[in-house]
Amino acid sequence: MTQDELKAAVGRAAVAYVTPGSVVGVGTGSTVNKFIDALAEARMPLAGAVSSSEQSTQRLKALGIAVLEASTVERLGVYVDGADEIDGRGFMIKGGGAALTREKIVADLAERFICIADESKQVGVLGSFPLPVEVIPMAAAQVARRFAALGGQATLRPGVLTDNGHPILDVRGLRIVDPPAMESEINQWPGVVTVGIFARHRAHTCLLGTATGVRTLVF
Ligand code: A5P
Repeated sequence: MTQDELKAAVGRAAVAYVTPGSVVGVGTGSTVNKFIDALAEARMPLAGAVSSSEQSTQRLKALGIAVLEASTVERLGVYVDGADEIDGRGFMIKGGGAALTREKIVADLAERFICIADESKQVGVLGSFPLPVEVIPMAAAQVARRFAALGGQATLRPGVLTDNGHPILDVRGLRIVDPPAMESEINQWPGVVTVGIFARHRAHTCLLGTATGVRTLVF
């Protein structure tokens, strides 16, 4: 199976986790696009979706799925999103598509985070994928120096501003052995809007696309 087919398989599998008539949290990325397509194909009756990006909002609306403002929703049953890396405890790196802040906000509304990913995303230790960090522009150099002190090399992602109008630092060279501790530490740094470590908002279930089918990992 191609990577695209693996993404389509996990996108379809995630539909089973959505309760008919509910409001579903929807992430961002090429794997989530497959999930959105599968939701529409299944003609699942929904009260609507809370979206984590302009990109997903457009796709949802184009397929006739109502998009609700996060501020109007108190709780979601499930949030379905991809990952750039996921480890054996459900901790993830996210933000490769620059949607990490809204992704964390919508994940925070949800009872369960269902991660959909092809098997290339599964890692032993997070950090091979450059860690995305959304920052306030005036703090970018200061935050980069803090990462250098931890052994990371931070560079601004060229030509990219998030849906919130902020730049992204991508940090290479980190080995994130304790994701909850590193997430908490970076969250204290002035000027950091969101760090792409999803430890507090880890996955509860991962639907992993493999050559032999979709594996369900429960954390
Ligand atoms: C978006 O900002 C990211 O967090 C995505 O969830 C992540 O990059 C996965 O994207 P793909 O499904 O395109 O690999």
